[in-house]
Amino acid sequence: MKSNRVRKGGGRPKDLGAGLKYSSQPQNSNGLEEGVEFLPVNNAKKVEKRDPRRRAVLVAVVVAVSLLSLTAGFLVWHFQYRNARVQTVFNGYLRLTNEKFLDAYENSSSTEFGSLAGKVKDALKLLYSESPVLGPYHRESSVTAFSEGSVIAYYWSEFSLPQRLVQEAERVMARERVITLPPRSRALQSFVMTSVVAFPTDPRMAQTTLDNSCSFALHARGQEQTRFTTPGFPDSPYPARARCQWALRGDAEAVLSLTFRSFDVAPCDERGSDLVVVYNSLSPVEPHALVRLCGTYPPSYNLTFLSSQNVLLVTLITHSERRHPGFKAVFFQLPKMSSCGGTFRDAQGTFSSPYYPGHYPPNTDCTWTIEVPGNRNVKVIFRQFFLVEPDVALGTCTKDYVEILGTRYCGERPQFVVAGNSSRVTVRFHSDQSYTDTGFLAEFLSYNSSDPCPGMFTCKTGRCIQKTLRCDGWADCTDYSDEKNCKCNASHQFTCKNEFCKPLFWVCDGVNDCGDSSDELGCSCPAETFRCSNGKCLPKSQQCDGRDDCGDGSDEATCAKVSTVPCTSRTYRCHSGLCVSKANPECDGKQDCADGSDEKDCDCGLRSFSKQSRVVGGQNADVGEWPWQVSLHVQGQGHVCGASLISPTWLVSAAHCYADDGGFRYSDPAVWTAYLGLLDQSKRSAPGVQEHRLKRIIRHPSFNDFTYDYDIALLELERPAAFSSVVRPICLPDATHVFRAGKAIWVTGWGHTQEGGTGAVVLQKGEIRVINQTTCEKLLPQQITARMMCVGYLSGAVDACQGDSGGPLSSVEADGRIFQAGVVSWGEGCARREKPGVYTRLPWFRSWIKDQTGV
Ligand code: ARG
Repeated sequence: MKSNRVRKGGGRPKDLGAGLKYSSQPQNSNGLEEGVEFLPVNNAKKVEKRDPRRRAVLVAVVVAVSLLSLTAGFLVWHFQYRNARVQTVFNGYLRLTNEKFLDAYENSSSTEFGSLAGKVKDALKLLYSESPVLGPYHRESSVTAFSEGSVIAYYWSEFSLPQRLVQEAERVMARERVITLPPRSRALQSFVMTSVVAFPTDPRMAQTTLDNSCSFALHARGQEQTRFTTPGFPDSPYPARARCQWALRGDAEAVLSLTFRSFDVAPCDERGSDLVVVYNSLSPVEPHALVRLCGTYPPSYNLTFLSSQNVLLVTLITHSERRHPGFKAVFFQLPKMSSCGGTFRDAQGTFSSPYYPGHYPPNTDCTWTIEVPGNRNVKVIFRQFFLVEPDVALGTCTKDYVEILGTRYCGERPQFVVAGNSSRVTVRFHSDQSYTDTGFLAEFLSYNSSDPCPGMFTCKTGRCIQKTLRCDGWADCTDYSDEKNCKCNASHQFTCKNEFCKPLFWVCDGVNDCGDSSDELGCSCPAETFRCSNGKCLPKSQQCDGRDDCGDGSDEATCAKVSTVPCTSRTYRCHSGLCVSKANPECDGKQDCADGSDEKDCDCGLRSFSKQSRVVGGQNADVGEWPWQVSLHVQGQGHVCGASLISPTWLVSAAHCYADDGGFRYSDPAVWTAYLGLLDQSKRSAPGVQEHRLKRIIRHPSFNDFTYDYDIALLELERPAAFSSVVRPICLPDATHVFRAGKAIWVTGWGHTQEGGTGAVVLQKGEIRVINQTTCEKLLPQQITARMMCVGYLSGAVDACQGDSGGPLSSVEADGRIFQAGVVSWGEGCARREKPGVYTRLPWFRSWIKDQTGV
């Protein structure tokens, strides 16, 4: 496949913005008033105490309320509410300046630990007693760990605070304070604690509620990797309602590198999802959180995190009963970076954020000075750029950033260029104390200011692009400068109001291609009528009346109410024989047929990894991204064609792949081997890859070797495939399924990456768009039949090519399910202008497939 224009980056996991406030169940054993219900601090709900006398008072109050006024009632309520106690746990840390670290401090059951922890607790008590918002409400404090540097103590303190004091207490606790205890007898020095801070925390992570069997302290040994996993990994799922933590340490002058090798916990959802958090501290405090993780990551996703000190804390809180294996992780120590950044004096070179593509450490500042030789200027090309942090307002770079020529860059950005107008630039990188990302990869070059892009077009951003990409309807410069000031070619281009040129056939296709909607204006129908997808104008009354008045079903396709309608060739037929008005109702997550048949047999079209890697350059597919993609090999020839998995035993492919040729018996199942779960052609024995022989090849009986009409084949595997995270079937569209013009669809394969080039080693993916049939027929005159569909771009650039044949077109449909829209069939060359690829339409063959395979 040829795809030299990257339009979209890969997905990235969303951080769950879980808050820090919490509510707690009533507890009797914690020394609190019996029967007190703790409220979420941000939940303004009334709290009642269940003491009988109190209840009598309450009843009286209620009577009074009913007798007097609502205002009085409100006051009583307000009083009660404000005095209700809220259990609050703060996690914090402090530095002991006059203390030397002893190895015994790493062991919380040693006497040394006990005695130092006792002193810290006394000091905290003293500190709290000095504050009227804290002292009277302090319940208990506990030291959980010490680490070296100057000795750092990690602790938690529990308070039972009146509601009205919670905010004030949070403010006081978050202010860094110093405590000095005078020297005691025999001790010469006073006991000084600096940087005493604490933050409200989820009480489930307080030591007392931690599952003892699920709390681990690990110390890195030399250069070795230390492995740890969730309990039971990988054979049994991790427990529900678990509270686990792993305290990781290294030697005093080291930093830690932590990598999740395998990560599969319950999917992220807004509330109550299972959550793994990594902290750059031994206290689970939000300001030191490095990442929050949930869901499933493919093995290729880079989940490496660096600490800024010699400690890390990993916590796991689970709720769900769903069965997931959990994670496997390793960590090791490495020497702290002595400095970061540098000076370059060459004409070109590369540099990246520390530990790229691992997550850069927090609290880091680097400066690179670049000075290119000669009388030339510097430009810096950021090939990859990921500095995403939760809660950073768009357009501000208040936390992590890269600063160059007076501008700060942050967030996730597609490739961009910063061009300077002198021979010297300085690049600064800054990370704050929380949340890190994979960082950036950059390249610098020297250029001649009078001709910055020899032989190419220079985007306003400084990027150089092929001259042929100018005015082709596609923004190749991120600032659209290649599409500005164009003269559109009226024979095949439309001039948008904003002066962009777009292919004529995208006018009035229901997609805003110009960006200002001018290609979709003037497509509307007169008042009191509506416009069908095929352009017809019909009276409004005919919309959603249960009849296909447009002739393409579009007047009935998006009605709020799904109704039963007379069956036509365009209506979906339920098993019951009744037809429904909705377009593409199958497996969309909503029951549209009364008998539920539209949602039956829907175990298809889903990937097992909820996260896909961020594509680092090009368009390599990721592990498990296209689990239905199959590679068909012929002995001695290697990969020849693609195919797709539709059931444990059946594949869909192109008939022309299995036509005998030059005496070679391609029609003989015995010459073929099918590889399932394959990503890299050079790694056919990689884990997860399945090798299958073919039992039978069914070419469509009407396949025409000359016109390529009916270019579809069914392949039966000798033995059923085992579904796994990398082997899964794609959904087959119903005969009535519509893949409308303009829709974006993915094509995948190991075919040539250039016309006349060579095949790809790693599976490639490219995003292309469905072209309407009339345009298709115009572009490839007298060659298009009703079984064929053009998909691609008029400007070329992304297309299937030799060796992609037989492979699927994957279309993401309602509910995120992927349906097969077509089979790679033929094309005039590859990726040529105005010559899109031609694909066999899948819906046309739905009943033939059912008849032949039962699928
Ligand atoms: N017939 C080719 C094959 O055997 C596929 C060509 C697809 N070409 C295209 N430009 N879309 O692999």
